[in-house]
Order: sequence, then C-alpha cells, then structure tokens
Amino acid sequence: MGKAIAIDGPSASGKSTVSKGVAAVLGFIYVDSGALYRGVTWQAIRKGVDTKDAKAVLETMHSADWDFFVQDGAAVFSIDGDVPVQELREKNVREAVANVASVPEVRKFVVDSLQSLANFGSLVMEGRDIGTVVFPDSPYKFYLDADPEERAMRRYRELVAAGEDEKAHEVMDSLKKRDQIDTTRKADPLTVAPGAQKIDSTSMTLEEVIDLVVGKVRGNV
Ligand code: CDP
Ligand code: CDP
Repeated sequence: MGKAIAIDGPSASGKSTVSKGVAAVLGFIYVDSGALYRGVTWQAIRKGVDTKDAKAVLETMHSADWDFFVQDGAAVFSIDGDVPVQELREKNVREAVANVASVPEVRKFVVDSLQSLANFGSLVMEGRDIGTVVFPDSPYKFYLDADPEERAMRRYRELVAAGEDEKAHEVMDSLKKRDQIDTTRKADPLTVAPGAQKIDSTSMTLEEVIDLVVGKVRGNV
C-alpha cells in the first residue's frame, strides 16, 4: 500500500499548487478531489438537471459511466467517455458545486472513488475532508490556510489572468459564501483533522510551503 498525503484547507489557500509541487518532488500521483465534486455538478448541468434537486443530481451521477486513470502524474477521470477539465472551472459549476457537495450520497460516491485511487500508487490528495474522512489514518495530514483577504486576492489575480471579467469584491463575496457552506454543512464539514499540521501561508511563498510539507513527509523537519 502506498502513502497518502492529505492536504486540506479553504479555497485559494494554495492546496492545488502546493499538492502538485509536492507530488512532483516526491514522484507521487496528484489528486484534485474537488474536481470530482465539480464533475458530478458538471454532469448534472449538462444533463439539464437543477443542481438544487438532490434526487435528480444523484440519478445523473449514478447513471453516468465513470472511469479513472493516471495521466502525466495526476489522477484523471472521464464521465460517459468525456474528460472535462476547463469546463469544471466555469462559473455555472463554481457556483453550484458547494451545494452539490453537501449531499451525503454525493460525498459517499466521491469518497469511495478517491479511496480506490490508492490502487494506483502513492498519492498527494487535496480537498476539504481528506484528512478527516478519506484517509483519516494517514500519518501525513496538512491543513493549509491563509487570511480571507489574501485568498480572495489570489483567486482574483488568477481570474483576471484567465481573462475573466470579475470584480474583486465579487470574488471576496463568493469565497466567503463558499467558506461558509463548506465549514457549516452537516456532511463532513471543512475542519482541521486530528493530528494534522496547520500551515498558515498568508505570508509564505509556494516554495516555502512545498519544502515544509516535503520535509515533514521525509521526516527531517
Ligand atoms: O487549491 P486552492 O484553491 O487552495 O489554491 P491554489 O489554486 O493552489 O492557489 C491559489 C493561487 O494562490 C494560485 O495562483 C497560487 O499561485 C497562489 N498562491 C500564492 O501566491 N502563494 C501561496 N503561498 C499559495 C498560493
Ligand atoms: O479550487 P477550490 O478550492 O476553490 O475548490 P475545489 O477544491 O475545486 O472544490 C470545489 C468544491 O468542492 C468546494 O467548495 C467544496 O464544496 C467541495 N469539496 C468538498 O466538499 N470536499 C473536498 N474534498 C473537495 C471539494
């Protein structure tokens, strides 16, 4: 059985960038667990389903054909033969995903799928409940955080760089709304896992955070 490094934290705390960096240094497979919740959301939207209708979302999720594989060091999935990537970052998905992810049966399906990825090898998995629910027994758990203002600015800069026409205060509002849903939902809310090392990256560079995680995993910190 390979290792599983769990990296949890709120939006724009640096989870994906740090996890990809750690995976590259250690030669582990990078897994973006949020992509699966986005995938379930995207599938419902393209089937014309109201994402607030949990029963209909579950029907589209269960009737779809999901396939998982590893490509360029990262876990990837297809839904009915299509591999959504850019589509998962679009506004309609972004705005609906936190609600979809609060449906317990959706979480069960995603958690089961994420656990089965351990068959592919050692993983660096980022999300909200990796240390608490998906791999609670992992000795390598991290909780990344940063001040909300800093996180909103990071996300805003990314959206502007991607050519999206968003206002800074809208990004801040949407981030706060998502933080609120993620930390207060009944099913597996975002919280610091027992035994997780907390990292406040507000004034840290990405390299510093990656070095800290890699050092901890290698046992020399
Ligand atoms: O995955 P998550 O939403 O937690 O965050 P991310 O997408 O990895 O990071 C959001 C943005 O913040 C990226 O553009 C990173 O380059 C940037 N970032 C940073 O500038 N400094 C850090 N210490 C962490 C992230
Ligand atoms: O990139 P960002 O951090 O904004 O979001 P993401 O990691 O792609 O996750 C999108 C949404 O999926 C989050 O707002 C959560 O509602 C949900 N999610 C979750 O509930 N549990 C996870 N392990 C990962 C994501």
